[in-house]
Amino acid sequence: MSANELAAYNAQHYQNRGPAGTVSRCAVWRQGVISCLMAKQPSQATWGGRFTAGPAELMLQFSESVSFDHRLAPFDIAGSKAHSAMLARVGLITPQEREAIQAGLDAILAEIKAGKFKWKVQLEDVHMNIEQALTQRVPAAAKLHTARSRNDQVATDMRLWFKHACGVLANKLRAAQRSLLAVAAANREVLIPGYTHLQRAQPVFLAHHLFAWLEMLERDRARFDAVAAQANWCPLGAGALAGTTLPIDREFTAKLLGFVDAKGRPQVTQNSMDTVADRDLFIEFAAACALAGVHFSRIAEDLILWSSAEFKLVELPDAFCTGSSLMPQKKNPDSCELLRGKSARLQGNLHTLLTLTKGLPLTYNRDLQEDKPPVFDSFDQTGLCADVLAGTVAGLKFCRERCSAAVADPALLATDLADYLVLRGVAFRDAHHAVGAVVRLAEQKQVALNQLSLSELQGVHAAFAADWTGVFDLKRALAKRRGTGMPGPVQLRRQFSRWTRRLKS
Ligand code: ARG
Repeated sequence: MSANELAAYNAQHYQNRGPAGTVSRCAVWRQGVISCLMAKQPSQATWGGRFTAGPAELMLQFSESVSFDHRLAPFDIAGSKAHSAMLARVGLITPQEREAIQAGLDAILAEIKAGKFKWKVQLEDVHMNIEQALTQRVPAAAKLHTARSRNDQVATDMRLWFKHACGVLANKLRAAQRSLLAVAAANREVLIPGYTHLQRAQPVFLAHHLFAWLEMLERDRARFDAVAAQANWCPLGAGALAGTTLPIDREFTAKLLGFVDAKGRPQVTQNSMDTVADRDLFIEFAAACALAGVHFSRIAEDLILWSSAEFKLVELPDAFCTGSSLMPQKKNPDSCELLRGKSARLQGNLHTLLTLTKGLPLTYNRDLQEDKPPVFDSFDQTGLCADVLAGTVAGLKFCRERCSAAVADPALLATDLADYLVLRGVAFRDAHHAVGAVVRLAEQKQVALNQLSLSELQGVHAAFAADWTGVFDLKRALAKRRGTGMPGPVQLRRQFSRWTRRLKS
């Protein structure tokens, strides 16, 4: 194609203009698509009464949420059943109407569970899909939305969902913790260096390191419990933003849905405007997921380092690693790397929610529909991460010889040597200085710290005595660390029984 021909082709295809100023075939096709997307159809929506025409196809696609909020169906149906029970109780519908509505909702839920329900994008969201399906079966369904708005409805669905989701994630974290406890138990005697600044620092039992991970995951678990407790307030009755003129009984609905305190007293939200505008829970949930993700990532990073040839303290399970398409010898720690990578995604979701809500005026704004994809993604990915961590950990094989070689350097007990001087009356700062000089001397002489002679040590500080090499007995050194939270064997036994008790049920 010559340059001129190319210019003519471009003009024809990309600028809607044919050579003689006519509209090109391509442009006609494109206009057809656009006018089709803009076509007005009669509104099928529950709010259609005020409108003479329905939304453009493009708008339907742009604004639908059923593609992601359909997973709220069981919670939406539970909410509607409780709401209809309350409407019957206060006399706004008859008991027969309540029965018909509830039976219809049960049938719809069964269809959804069986994968037979036809979700319609034109009906926008999970709420309107279910309501319309119900209306087609049960005339009384027209009364279901009495004293309710989708604003308090979606807030209710999500609070029910958060309570469920927090329970699921807490259980998955538990499973990961159990997996860690089993590895700790199988390697009870193994010692490794603990690191600071990624430099070998002091010896610890491997189990003590693994118990540090258990603590991290325990805090995550507690955070999900706290989010579930925050979720435990019933929004129904807040209406669109200003409640209702009808004589509803919010406490009754709250009780039916399990929004109750420890004594079974109903908990209902206290301000109708805050109720429909508030998205704190979304942020708190995403924050709990993001922080769990940070913990997964830090654990994964330790495992990646430990499994490298440079450390080789552990062998990762084949089932959670992959090979290289080019280098036949490679075994890559992919599950750990993805645990590290997913944490970025979890933080992104939290950030999305913070940004989504920060500039919104009270109360509900349609922007808030975008609150669900990040929350659902955080739930899915956090659950997956916990499962993968549990699986990876279950297959860890510690290389005991490499561990004991790594922990054998007497320099790891230099601090103990300073403590030895302290017990002989030397001020810690002086002791630290003296041992620093001893370490330097050993380095100069290219010998291990415990291979220097007593006279060399006494040349550095007069308080050193013949028993100074006793400090380098690893077993003794660890046994001395017996205070709460320390890595000695007495504490380790305590922690084993503490975690076994905690993770039992
Ligand atoms: N799909 C909507 C959402 O998730 C439900 C609430 C709609 N409320 C409204 N006033 N348009 O936010």
